[in-house]
Amino acid sequence: MSLGSDALLEARNIGLSFGDFVALDDVSLSFRRGGITGIVGPNGAGKSTLFNVLGGQVRPRHGAVIFAGQDISALPAHRRARRGLTRTFQISRELGALTVLENLLLAFPRQPGEEILPVFFRKTAVKRAEEEAMEHARALLKRVNLWRLADAPANALSGGQKKLLELCRALMLEPAFVLLDEPAAGVNPVLVGEIADFIRILQGEGMSFGIVEHNMDLIAALCDPIHVLAEGRVLTSGTFAEISANTQVTDAYLGGVA
Ligand SMILES: Nc1ncnc2c1ncn2[C@@H]1O[C@H](COP(=O)(O)OP(=O)(O)OP(=O)(O)O)[C@@H](O)[C@H]1O
Ligand SMILES: [Mg+2]
Repeated sequence: MSLGSDALLEARNIGLSFGDFVALDDVSLSFRRGGITGIVGPNGAGKSTLFNVLGGQVRPRHGAVIFAGQDISALPAHRRARRGLTRTFQISRELGALTVLENLLLAFPRQPGEEILPVFFRKTAVKRAEEEAMEHARALLKRVNLWRLADAPANALSGGQKKLLELCRALMLEPAFVLLDEPAAGVNPVLVGEIADFIRILQGEGMSFGIVEHNMDLIAALCDPIHVLAEGRVLTSGTFAEISANTQVTDAYLGGVA
């Protein structure tokens, strides 16, 4: 179970409504530093909405997002990314007409201070940044076995390869924390295994993760703790064994939550 002191990312009392519909109702939960924290729950529970709040895509009506001890609630998504908090989306956002490699290069941020340098140094700095981005992209694509497809259009990739491309895009920023919204959805079981192995390796290198998934094998293999969301609320949190033994959780999946 996660305790406040070892939390890298925290949602505090998040409330969010779409019109009269309460999508998140006073949600407080945390993601362990160095860990892989799971979020599960039935369709429509508010999991992706919570990730939108954490990532800065959507502003909540109430509550705060704390990252590495700092309140980042007011920061837009790109500034959260620069601080080391990145994410992937449930629906892959790859830019289909661009190549696999171009998709990664696009994710690389401009160098801070670039604009104020004199032209000559600016050109040198930009060139160096581009070379670094290229090197980084090549290394990442090799790690996930996509380098051979570097020049293929991204929309030619399989569902699982698109998920890997998304993950690599998030990794281009060398984040401390990555939120993954359904990394296994639409992915064949062999590739799910490869994605899980890659996440574990990255965790071993010091990266922390939050994962939303319906694939319980992946959740069981990777995540501790796991928070269960239902109807916009945190139902319970615990290890996989704990939440699977909880009848409230099975009821929620069967639509039995009052
Ligand atoms: N922009 C929006 N406008 C109105 N309602 C929304 C909006 N985004 C999400 N919702 C509603 O909020 C609820 C939570 O949606 P969300 O996408 O967070 O669920 P989820 O837990 O990720 O579900 P799934 O497992 O199906 O991906 C759903 O009832 C959804 O219809
Ligand atoms: Mg979702």
